Amino acid sequence: MNSNSGNLLLLTGDEIDALLRNRDGDVLEAVKLAYQAHSRGNTIMPPNSYLRFPNKEKERIIAKPAYLGEDFEVAGIKWIASFPGNLAQNLERASATLILNSIETGHPVAILESSIISAKRTAASAALAAQYLWHQDTVSTVGLVGCGLINFETLRFLLTVYPTIENVVLCDLSWERAEQFQDKVLELNPALKVKFSPSFGELSEQSPIISLATTAINPHINSLDNCCENAVILHVSLRDFVPEVILAADNVADDIEQVCSNNTSLHLTEQQIGNRDFIRCTLGDILNGENSPRNPQKPVSIFNPFGLGILDMAVAKLTENLAREEKCGTIIPGFLPKSWLER
Ligand SMILES: NC(=O)c1ccc[n+]([C@@H]2O[C@H](COP(=O)([O-])OP(=O)(O)OC[C@H]3O[C@@H](n4cnc5c(N)ncnc54)[C@H](O)[C@@H]3O)[C@@H](O)[C@H]2O)c1
Repeated sequence: MNSNSGNLLLLTGDEIDALLRNRDGDVLEAVKLAYQAHSRGNTIMPPNSYLRFPNKEKERIIAKPAYLGEDFEVAGIKWIASFPGNLAQNLERASATLILNSIETGHPVAILESSIISAKRTAASAALAAQYLWHQDTVSTVGLVGCGLINFETLRFLLTVYPTIENVVLCDLSWERAEQFQDKVLELNPALKVKFSPSFGELSEQSPIISLATTAINPHINSLDNCCENAVILHVSLRDFVPEVILAADNVADDIEQVCSNNTSLHLTEQQIGNRDFIRCTLGDILNGENSPRNPQKPVSIFNPFGLGILDMAVAKLTENLAREEKCGTIIPGFLPKSWLER
């Protein structure tokens, strides 16, 4: 019998924050291995399930079940809510819970607060894509469109893979959010130079690597004309570009089936032209050396990550291992009931 049988590990957000602090390298590695396993077919992800509400266009709760094989052998589900209106009440937009299950018994073994894991795996995947798609070893300027948690974490992970970054260009619909973000950037590294930009067009003239993490639900960017040569765009929020922009770029996804759903820019593009040929490959294929990082005929490369449940499982497993090693968290004994034969 598994030694953890019947005992459930509960990890709060603050505990996870402490466990994963200064572990960006481990998170990047876990995310990379998960993408590689996915590219080799050693993962299972049933479709996400979206719960939406009457008269609420932007609010949703998504269930993301996933199994990740190879060295991970982990399964579970993330249940993540997005309520953009929370920001006006000084609450976080996203909140999440993740359950890890034993592969041997199916029993739940850990319950983790998951907004931090989710933000870190998203940011790590974007930084990993930048590292592989950008054609040089260094970069000095990055542009961030959308000044929330996801782009803040993305900046932290970009600084890990590109310590040469000196300039950060910010763009947000809300001036207040952009200023708050600037304060956090300077807390992170007072040597960084922060500039504000009124539009994607202007920001893209100065920033060879750009991350988009807005809450736009309809495309609002219709040209890449100002982009730097060989620019890499991390299209984390997925709904910012009109189909013409997607068609003009070299598109890499995390999972081609998943990313062509739920009215993402790629889904709209597929609906418009009737095929998915405009998506060249997955990041996992590139990491496994099965596809080249860039298509030289396309001047701009766009990484479109749907956000795979396997990444949550990979980082949750890393977190669970660290918690058990460091004896962090609360063990709930006897979470599962006695056998019905004994009740
Ligand atoms: N693909 C993935 O794996 C993945 C994972 C997690 C989150 N996300 C997405 O990332 C996005 C950002 O998440 P967050 O937690 O940082 O959100 P957030 O609400 O904290 O921040 C989003 C920011 O974007 C700004 N914004 C909205 N529309 C804009 C526009 N058109 N131009 C410029 N700025 C705009 C808002 O003012 C806000 O400051 C969300 O859309 C979320 O769904 C994607």
